[in-house]
Amino acid sequence: MNKEFLDKKQLVDHRIEIAMESASFKDSPLYPAINYAVTAPGKRIRGVLTLAFCKRLSVPLEEAIPFAVALELIHAYSLVHDDLPEMDNDDYRRGLPTCHKKFGNAMALLAGDAILNYSIEYILKNRKLYQPNRLLNAIDVLYSSSGAEGMLGGQAIDKIGETRLLSLDELLELHNKKTGALLLAPILIASALADEKNENYVNYSKHIGLAFQIKDDILDVEGSSEKLGKKIGKDAEENKSTFVSIMGLDSAKNYLRNELLLAEKEAENDPFLVWLVQYIGGRDH
Ligand code: IPE
Ligand code: MG
Ligand code: MG
Ligand code: MG
Repeated sequence: MNKEFLDKKQLVDHRIEIAMESASFKDSPLYPAINYAVTAPGKRIRGVLTLAFCKRLSVPLEEAIPFAVALELIHAYSLVHDDLPEMDNDDYRRGLPTCHKKFGNAMALLAGDAILNYSIEYILKNRKLYQPNRLLNAIDVLYSSSGAEGMLGGQAIDKIGETRLLSLDELLELHNKKTGALLLAPILIASALADEKNENYVNYSKHIGLAFQIKDDILDVEGSSEKLGKKIGKDAEENKSTFVSIMGLDSAKNYLRNELLLAEKEAENDPFLVWLVQYIGGRDH
């Protein structure tokens, strides 16, 4: 593991724990389900990337942290809902029973909603840290990335992809939205907070976002359930349109390799960013 990744992951984990301990809704009957989903062991890639791009654009760490936490909260809620019976119907996530398996479907649905709500509450609790305009721009990009034009829009195409095999263009839109949008959000947030653009980092993020989901599709076919902490073979079971179902395993691997190469070209020889490209390509969980 890369040291920058580990240090930043530890910080993200720690601040997520504090966010849960200091939540105003600790007495709510929803709290156990929320806390379960949010603190389950995730890789925290989106939070780490937020800290990494903020650092590279000279955004102070304390300004970066609320957005890193909020993005991980949004990601966690997206997984709770993604696993529900009406969505992907999964029983395991992050090596544990899914939120709805443990707390029931209704509680999981509400917990997901509440986590999304808490993501913006948590940012606003920290509003004094920011210049108002930059704060609003960062909120704008985070919530459009996760909304119907981003992650949720992708999730909708994913459901359509169960009813018929999607074209490659549709599949690219699906992956770029359902997974790419939340992996593009870190650089968009950093740019908003810094009021500064970096096209290389934007392109880098788009390529790793697509690569990340192609790898996820591949791991669903040839990964290990134990290592992944979720059941494999689920995409075929649910009749999903994926890189593997549309072009086959070998072509999916070639497509992945090319996306990783394109990402690496945009990494500005930054050792952490180069390492992350290799990590995404080689990951087993
Ligand atoms: C899983 O994301 C869902 C996808 C977008 C493929 P991650 O693989 O980042 O999940 P965690 O957060 O590490 O559990
Ligand atoms: Mg899904
Ligand atoms: Mg799923
Ligand atoms: Mg998957």
